[in-house]
Amino acid sequence: MDIIICKDEQEVGKAAAALIAPFATKGGTLGLATGSSPLSTYQELIRMYEAGEVSFKNCKAFLLDEYVGLTRDNENSYFKTIRKEFTDHIDIVDEEVYSPDGANPDPYAAAEEYEAKLAAESVDVQILGIGGNGHIAFNEPTSSLSGLTKVQALHPKTVEDNARFFNTIEEVPTHALTQGLGTLSRAQNIVLVATGEGKADAIRGTVEGPVTASCPGSILQMHNNATIIIDEAAASKLENADHYRLMEQLKLR
Ligand code: GLP
Repeated sequence: MDIIICKDEQEVGKAAAALIAPFATKGGTLGLATGSSPLSTYQELIRMYEAGEVSFKNCKAFLLDEYVGLTRDNENSYFKTIRKEFTDHIDIVDEEVYSPDGANPDPYAAAEEYEAKLAAESVDVQILGIGGNGHIAFNEPTSSLSGLTKVQALHPKTVEDNARFFNTIEEVPTHALTQGLGTLSRAQNIVLVATGEGKADAIRGTVEGPVTASCPGSILQMHNNATIIIDEAAASKLENADHYRLMEQLKLR
């Protein structure tokens, strides 16, 4: 893993966007995440697009996850969210932005369908955030480290964290469809972004903890091309932060 420690959220976004942009211009397949963590990355990519520095016109994009029970026109669906926050502001073809169907009355069938769709694709670069309990996409602790797209019951902490987007906590769906850890690990490159002290424990577990289903982020230790881009606050519980800084300085390319 490469660990890049930046001074703040804006720098995290710039560093992540710089890694992602070359894949976009090549017409690559992008793996997109929702949540607040990737927002500065998306803002920087939008800025680069507006400045003519990157184009997404030949790209496809696949979302990580979706709430069960929300239709695509629901403001809180990830289908809608990724459009509002990112893809409506760039030149990607809207029909090429795919996500699991949260409105399918049979969520297990929807999970299988999405896994089959992804099995025929090769994601060039996957963007990830991380939950306070170490979850990635919606893979809560105890998720199989090699799991496929599935229906996931949400941890009360995840429901509580995500309640800020809904009017009341009761409105937060109890289940989600999510790419499994095995599914998302097939991406050629992974860029995980995290900011703020609330993510410091999850980052510590991801980078320095054992590889364990108790901290799903730790599966990235098994990935050949994973980059963790974090701000000082998210890095604050890393024991070997100085070593990671040195490794970045010594990098030849
Ligand atoms: C949700 C999403 C994850 C995201 C996590 C953290 O559970 N399914 O993909 O990484 O929240 O969200 P945030 O970036 O808003 O802290």
